Amino acid sequence: SQSEIGLIGLGTMGAMLALNIAEKGFAISVWNRTTEVTHRFAAEAGELAAQITPTETLQALVASIRSPRAIILMVPAGQAVDDQIAALRPLLDPEDLIIDAGNANFRDTNRRAAAANGYRFLGIGVSGGEEGARHGPAIMGGGDAQDWDRVAPVLNAIAAKYEGHPCAGRMGEAGAGHFVKTVHNGIEYADMQMIAEVYGVMRDGMGMQAPAIAAVLDDWNKGPLQSYLIEISAAVAGVIDERARKPILDVILDRAGQKGTGRWTVIEAQHLAAPIPVIDAAVTARNTSARLEERRAGQAVFGPAPELLPTDALTLRDLEQAMIAGKILCYAQGFALISAASSDFGWLLPLPDIARVWRAGCIIRSSMLNDMATALTEDAGRNLMLAPFFADHLKACHGALRKVVAAGATHGLPLPALASGLAWFDMMRTERSTANMIQGQRDFFGAHGFQRLDGGENHHGPWAMRG
Ligand code: 6PG
Repeated sequence: SQSEIGLIGLGTMGAMLALNIAEKGFAISVWNRTTEVTHRFAAEAGELAAQITPTETLQALVASIRSPRAIILMVPAGQAVDDQIAALRPLLDPEDLIIDAGNANFRDTNRRAAAANGYRFLGIGVSGGEEGARHGPAIMGGGDAQDWDRVAPVLNAIAAKYEGHPCAGRMGEAGAGHFVKTVHNGIEYADMQMIAEVYGVMRDGMGMQAPAIAAVLDDWNKGPLQSYLIEISAAVAGVIDERARKPILDVILDRAGQKGTGRWTVIEAQHLAAPIPVIDAAVTARNTSARLEERRAGQAVFGPAPELLPTDALTLRDLEQAMIAGKILCYAQGFALISAASSDFGWLLPLPDIARVWRAGCIIRSSMLNDMATALTEDAGRNLMLAPFFADHLKACHGALRKVVAAGATHGLPLPALASGLAWFDMMRTERSTANMIQGQRDFFGAHGFQRLDGGENHHGPWAMRG
């Protein structure tokens, strides 16, 4: 008998996804470029092996799948995907479906969807890391509805469930799923950075040791900040390294890696003129962290920045409240970016559904996302920070954010994400901004013209008359 579905690429994510599919009762054929990997995978599949057909050639893979076929690609994003599609193409029938489940740039997915000729194509963003892939990821799909519907039974079955609802959905055409996954990753960077910043305040400003910080994060995980990233940050802070016999955080080099999805989010936001300063700051912070030698040189010249805070400067409660405000501001920006992309790309991205899909399985899952799904439904079309539930939270918490950012500025604790969130918040509640000065400058040097408050378009200042 033939398999329900095929999968190419048995790296960590591909292998876990294949086991997940097999476990949900679907027969699956697998293929990997290195045959040895395929056989090892099948040999280690235990009782799930009965559901798995290992194949040694692409021909054998294709022949073993029920027609019309569905084949998931889980290969490194970029050229490897194009190469794999090119190799598969001659073996496929027009109704066969290729599903790219890697972290593709959505522009590549748009291109691949447009170029799909002689086969069908879906791009799905899969979040949740190794554990998620194995036991329930969040899945953000893009492509034709009929193609999504065909594989939806498998994708819904393997996806994480939030109160019984699968965290999987079609976001729109072509690259829409990978776009939403990219913004997810941008938000992931920002959540991680804000946690790193408050960790820094506790470590350098309050002189706390990692185990004590772990306890604080654990505590926050029981309140409004409940989330996977707070939970794992507490776990990371709590681990003692056996070799060094001290907290593992104190032996991990402070240079952040990245594979590019956060950067893509920022680049796309700039194309769309959608402000996402918190995510921008998070990407910039990773870039800055990578310049270890330059930071060392900076410290040698200027002395180290962070100093201990006076004991009464901040409470742990202030920090928690600041994080709540920062998080709301970050998500308000992220959803506004999605909304901008939705109109610009003609996708009709379903904002409340996106929040729902993110409630479980993915890296940014949190209890706040459930409230966001409600707010985005009830207050469609408005910025999330203006929805009453979040507006009330912000009213209660922005004072603490201000206090934390001010203390950071005074005592040399860098808080780029939190500070940029605060600056954006203040800009967003200032009706009379300072861009009148920008307009005056533009008109002065370039005669670009300005609107007057007392009426009229395209005025020029008296300077335009000179010379
Ligand atoms: C997820 C993650 C995942 C991402 C890694 C690493 O949703 O499961 O976003 O897709 O690839 O977290 O990302 P960086 O290497 O860029 O930090």
